[in-house]
Amino acid sequence: MKQRVGVIGLGIMGTSVTQVLERNPLVDLKAFCTLKEDRLADAQKKFSVSNGYLDFNEMLEKEDLDIVYIATPDWWHRDPVIACLDKGLHVHVEKPMTTDIGEATEIVEKVKRSGLKLQVSYNHRWLSAYNATWNMIREGQIGKPLMGYARKNNPIFVPTEMLSWSGKSSPAWFLSAHDIDLMCWWFDQSPIEVHGYGVKKVLVERGIDTYDMIQGLVKFDGGAIATFESSWIYPNTHPSMPDSFMEVIGEKGHFHLDRKTEAIEMSTEEKFAWPRSLLNYKVFDKWVGAFPSCVNSFVDSVIEDREPFVTALDGWRATAVLDALHQSVDNGGIVKVQQAPSWPR
Ligand SMILES: NC(=O)c1ccc[n+]([C@@H]2O[C@H](COP(=O)([O-])OP(=O)(O)OC[C@H]3O[C@@H](n4cnc5c(N)ncnc54)[C@H](O)[C@@H]3O)[C@@H](O)[C@H]2O)c1
Repeated sequence: MKQRVGVIGLGIMGTSVTQVLERNPLVDLKAFCTLKEDRLADAQKKFSVSNGYLDFNEMLEKEDLDIVYIATPDWWHRDPVIACLDKGLHVHVEKPMTTDIGEATEIVEKVKRSGLKLQVSYNHRWLSAYNATWNMIREGQIGKPLMGYARKNNPIFVPTEMLSWSGKSSPAWFLSAHDIDLMCWWFDQSPIEVHGYGVKKVLVERGIDTYDMIQGLVKFDGGAIATFESSWIYPNTHPSMPDSFMEVIGEKGHFHLDRKTEAIEMSTEEKFAWPRSLLNYKVFDKWVGAFPSCVNSFVDSVIEDREPFVTALDGWRATAVLDALHQSVDNGGIVKVQQAPSWPR
């Protein structure tokens, strides 16, 4: 019954997922893998996981696993995902599924052929306010959704200090990915075309070749439209991370979801802040919030042999929108969103 789990990538997310899985009674956390020896040694001291590797292929070769959680940088998800699927393992991969639509299609096709389960970690679906919004839209409380707006903006330390690989990603891949997944899920419509603009200045001047901010307007097949905004250059004095706001306007009503303050305001002699506690927080002895709920839910989906709450196709769809958005931002014009590979119902 217990699922034998391995983790690939022990950065911020890989460490958080290890903390959660270690406390899940349905999980036998067997092994983890990361690139740097000192990080691996630290993790082995901190967690009760004896088998550590610097090469994920060696881990997959030597360990008998059921599930692998992949928490490598945005642009390096495809190789470990494909290797795990080839070994017959269920995969929980961090968002975005990949930053390349060809790779995403390859993954979806493999999931489809193998019958294995794959969930992309769009954990915001487990935030109770976002989940309640989904339910109330489905109940028809605001009528058909017609327009959406989503903003997710980070202070500049995220691309300059927190992520060593930000130059190979963008604020939209890193931030809007969540909002695009939520909006597609709430609207229950397929995105068909995108027009976007981006600004490159501040980060380029600091030697990081990526966009400071991106705005994209997406049109859906049911007639709805939605704007997605992301920025990586707020000053570090900004009291929250991220500044996150979402809106849906329907035929008969609206929703506003403001996650900027996360319900706590504090000031000290050094700073003013809105500390985070909703996504991942240790309450006494257990991690609670949307992130642990999402992680543990995937383990449940394997045990119960049911579809994960975020499917491979959901992950593919967010990557397809982001792929079209970046084509539009890079080259100009309106770009059609690829349509999903067929999926047996
Ligand atoms: N779901 C969420 O809410 C959420 C939040 C933040 C980040 N993320 C996503 O999680 C992923 C990881 O982000 P992070 O902030 O933890 O990054 P990070 O840079 O802190 O960690 C990445 C880790 O991957 C390891 N790695 C890289 N290549 C590897 C390889 N070949 N084999 C083994 N390990 C390798 C690195 O050594 C590093 O430890 C990204 O895709 C990011 O977008 C998701």
